Amino acid sequence: MRRIIYGLLFVLVGACTETPAEPTGLVTKNAMVVSAREEASAIGVEILQRGGNAFDAMIGTELALAVAYPFAGNLGGGGFMVYRKNNGDVGALDYREKAPMAAHKDMYLDSSGAVIPGLSTKGATGVGVPGTIAGIFEVHRQFGTIPMEEIIAPVIELVETGVRVTEKQAARLEKYWEDIIEINGDNTLFYNKCKVGDTLRYPALANTLKRIAKNGREEFYSGETAKILADFIQLKGGYITLEDLDGYEAKWRQPIIFNYKDLRLISMCPPSSGGVTINQIFKMIEPYDIGNGEHHSARTLQLFTEAARRAYADRNYFLGDPDFVDIPLDILLSQGYIDERMDSFSFSHATPSEDIHEGQVIMAEHDETTHYSIVDQFGNAVSVTTTLNGAYGSKLYCDELGFFLNNEMDDFSAKPGVPNMFGLIGAEANSIAPGKRMLSSMTPTIIEKDGKLWMVVGSPGGSKIITAVAQTILYVYEFNMSMQEAVNTPRFHHQWLPDEIVFEPGEFSEETKDELREKGYIINETLTPIMGKVDGIRILSDGSLEGGADRRGDDTAVGF
Ligand code: GLY
Repeated sequence: MRRIIYGLLFVLVGACTETPAEPTGLVTKNAMVVSAREEASAIGVEILQRGGNAFDAMIGTELALAVAYPFAGNLGGGGFMVYRKNNGDVGALDYREKAPMAAHKDMYLDSSGAVIPGLSTKGATGVGVPGTIAGIFEVHRQFGTIPMEEIIAPVIELVETGVRVTEKQAARLEKYWEDIIEINGDNTLFYNKCKVGDTLRYPALANTLKRIAKNGREEFYSGETAKILADFIQLKGGYITLEDLDGYEAKWRQPIIFNYKDLRLISMCPPSSGGVTINQIFKMIEPYDIGNGEHHSARTLQLFTEAARRAYADRNYFLGDPDFVDIPLDILLSQGYIDERMDSFSFSHATPSEDIHEGQVIMAEHDETTHYSIVDQFGNAVSVTTTLNGAYGSKLYCDELGFFLNNEMDDFSAKPGVPNMFGLIGAEANSIAPGKRMLSSMTPTIIEKDGKLWMVVGSPGGSKIITAVAQTILYVYEFNMSMQEAVNTPRFHHQWLPDEIVFEPGEFSEETKDELREKGYIINETLTPIMGKVDGIRILSDGSLEGGADRRGDDTAVGF
């Protein structure tokens, strides 16, 4: 009898823990786009409803973000796409910016070898060769099903009808207004001071998009737009030439693929560090059963922190553009190496970062870049993270073309050991060279469970992208949250150096923090920033989709 009761209990408990959380975000039956702005998600969905696939929708969403979310959406930046087709094929596209041919290792150093403040972050000197237009045309060439002009048409309409200023957008514009004026002068056509509810229109951008729709990729890289762009950047003191633009290529790459328990994760490979670092973090925590406790308990925080500490130390030392440096991926991702890295881990105390590698950095707080996730009605999925790097990139706005230019050159290590704007220190592998792509943290990720599509996820947030994405996945998988709940849940971050844990406000108890302090962890409570803005889609057991649109921004899920 007792055995029967135990048996029943086991079945019940097992069933309870295996029942996925009820959705709390938008649920739709067929298709969904989740992005930083409703306008961009709606354009992606409109393209899907016209019969386009996830790749067609990717192009519309990417361009619409440049209009509705110029803080990070872009024509003058770059990004990464990870995809999974409905037949299970997976792949990745790298449309990351490149250093111009005039670039060299010491270009941001003064005669005494010190980094010149601002040279890689503000204005034309920080601009890398943009990759976004090459990226969308490559996606279209490979997977597009409806004509490019038809995809771009609703984006042009959005530019012409204008975008309503939200509260968060007004606050961002206010915050960066002085920087934008400093770089462009107060006659900039970007916008005149505006308030919530105003409508912003960018006629120059409409003209640029019309030329691109008509003349294709070449318009941006060797046509009239290319000439205007190269002349403009050079006039402003930057290095990009027509030859640099003409030589740009987006590249198909093999994504990083690994298993975590019964999940199969597909994430971005170098020149982004996202996939490698998230792979190391998951493999370091896998043996410890992180789900066996509360999601914000000291034990969970400690385990995640120690894995992140070790993974970021490797990131900063080994990773760079794979076309320029040999990255020992086989070793870095082997279970033997990963187990060895965790040999020094103990739940009884913190491992000081100086015992793992040396370094001293000051952490800067930024929350730029943007991510969107798409699942179409055919079962294809794309996960895209795109960026200008800083907020409004280099702040350099081309009046004649209607868009901002990136400051992605700051993602190189100007000098090994010196932190970039995210506080990440880089080593030789990420030093500057002509034509090289700078290391990124972008982590667009797609996950399968039992061989089926299970989640599409990613985030902005500079160095915090990787931990934000990892925690969101763990919140759903290990702590049985819905997609929306996982996205909403406060996050924490550790990146090896500085040797401290930072927390988002809320939920983290004083008791937990005290417990961590007692074990030797340094807790930075002066910084309680937003950590990432995760936009994800979870596929429910009946095949419908749950969106997780980050409450930290104007992010919105739209679907049908
Ligand atoms: N610029 C941010 C990143 O690439 O990670």
